[in-house]
Amino acid sequence: MRERDPGRTVLRFRRRRDLPRARGRRLVAILAGSIAMAALAGFAVAWRPALPIVAPRPGSSFDLAGVERGAVLARLGDCAVCHTASGGAAYAGGRPIHTPFGTLYASNITPDPESGIGRWSQRAFDRAMRRGVARDGSLLYPAFPFTHYTGLADRDLGDLYAFLMTRTPVAAARPDNRLVFPLGFRPLMAGWDLLFFRPGRTAADPARTPDWNRGRYLAESLSHCGACHTPRNLLGAEERGHAYAGGWSDGWYAPPLDASSPARRAWTADRLFAYLRTGLDRSHAAAAGPMGPVAYQLARVPDADVRAIAVYVAFLMARPAGDPAQEPERTAEADASQPEGAALFAGACASCHGAGAPMMLAGRPALALGTPLHEHDPRDVIEIVLQGLNPPTGAAGPYMPAFGDSLTDGQVAAVVAYLRARYGGGPAWPDLPHAVRTARRQGSGA
Ligand code: HEC
Ligand code: HEC
Ligand code: HEC
Repeated sequence: MRERDPGRTVLRFRRRRDLPRARGRRLVAILAGSIAMAALAGFAVAWRPALPIVAPRPGSSFDLAGVERGAVLARLGDCAVCHTASGGAAYAGGRPIHTPFGTLYASNITPDPESGIGRWSQRAFDRAMRRGVARDGSLLYPAFPFTHYTGLADRDLGDLYAFLMTRTPVAAARPDNRLVFPLGFRPLMAGWDLLFFRPGRTAADPARTPDWNRGRYLAESLSHCGACHTPRNLLGAEERGHAYAGGWSDGWYAPPLDASSPARRAWTADRLFAYLRTGLDRSHAAAAGPMGPVAYQLARVPDADVRAIAVYVAFLMARPAGDPAQEPERTAEADASQPEGAALFAGACASCHGAGAPMMLAGRPALALGTPLHEHDPRDVIEIVLQGLNPPTGAAGPYMPAFGDSLTDGQVAAVVAYLRARYGGGPAWPDLPHAVRTARRQGSGA
């Protein structure tokens, strides 16, 4: 089993709790990094050629089976999650993506000839997906996970292209990005690519099963699990040496998907399958925050693909000893040490989460089993209380009301401290009121 690296944990804590200093450090890193990137960009050919525009192809010229396969691949790749603005037309872009470097807007990838990709050839599309270069030769930012899509097979790119080119064209210009200086200057990305981007596919491992290989292909490339679950360096690149060791996405902590997972029950392939497929696994918890849409997409792809991802991720998470011993709930101690949180819990939460509540009797997981209460950072629990659980439109997923409007910062901090004391492992989270304020400030941008 790999030990958690305490140095990194402290860094993350500091990053959250000591924001002004962390922000200053990040700006210095961005400036220093940009200078290095500019120098490298000068060496690397800082521009790529524009590829010729092509006449939009009629939808009927695409093979229907390929379009259908492309629809499944688009769900596995979460294309609609990023490329659809809230309330906007599917794939027409405009959704803001919040990063530590500012806000980017996803492009319009419908086949509209002007504002979309209607005049892109297959070759231009492949280059964007595999190299992060737009048709006109400009370099794309890695908020678009081309660093993962680079591993896609030719046939899958053909099917994705066929699927997108047969959508309804929507004319929609995207808003301008708002990035910190000087990152708005795209040629700098040539330096970033040189430093951090490793294009190309991973060969199948003949020593492993076909399921494992399929799962690795999907998880590493199309489904880009590491884009959220791997920590990133100060210039926003995934840390290769710590793949799946836990990362951040839109203010949420995406817990480790490796042996260092703090989950109270071992994640087996069966449990992962249930969680990824339905957004709820009874031996753990529901998929909240940015994981919700991922599970929502995975509910609509063939069983075999989700099973393959589950097999591969179970391999990544394998721990020698199976389920760790369960700690007893510390109800009496928590009631005594956190009276305000205990009263809030009894009033606002126990109707669903209390022992004997109808929801619990229906077989919902106990709060003690969810990973968030065992993480080193309280952010996920705070976000769940503030935002609740909202299944994406039309999905019959687990629902929990948002308490952001009805509870004050102090009350959220009190109930979170109570949950940690009663159900959580590990020491009390320090300075929760500050963490709640930070979450409110950062989370409101969505
Ligand atoms: C995590 C969010 C995210 C996901 C998931 C995502 N994209 Fe994007 N995509 C973006 C962003 C942001 C941009 C714009 C990048 C830029 O401006 O440099 C983009 C740009 C693109 C472009 C270039 C368009 C242009 O006009 O330059 C293409 C093509 C594209 N995406 C296709 C896809 C496909 C196909 C999928 C699914 C397999 C997908 N994207 C999934 C965020 C995402
Ligand atoms: C857009 C970001 C994002 C992507 C992409 C993503 N995840 Fe997650 N994932 C999260 C976040 C955030 C959480 C924590 C959610 C919560 O607290 O309920 C999470 C939670 C999980 C958990 C629960 C872990 C635990 O111990 O509770 C599993 C398992 C998981 N993700 C697997 C995957 C797999 C497999 C993929 C790729 C198919 C994936 N995730 C892609 C953001 C993401
Ligand atoms: C209307 C029912 C309902 C109420 C009221 C409710 N919840 Fe939930 N909550 C749920 C459901 C459903 C889930 C998802 C299933 C699960 O993860 O156990 C959930 C999940 C959670 C989780 C994530 C579990 C995990 O560890 O991943 C936390 C934390 C949580 N609730 C805290 C609270 C707190 C604190 C309150 C009161 C302020 C509260 N809930 C009130 C229904 C409710």
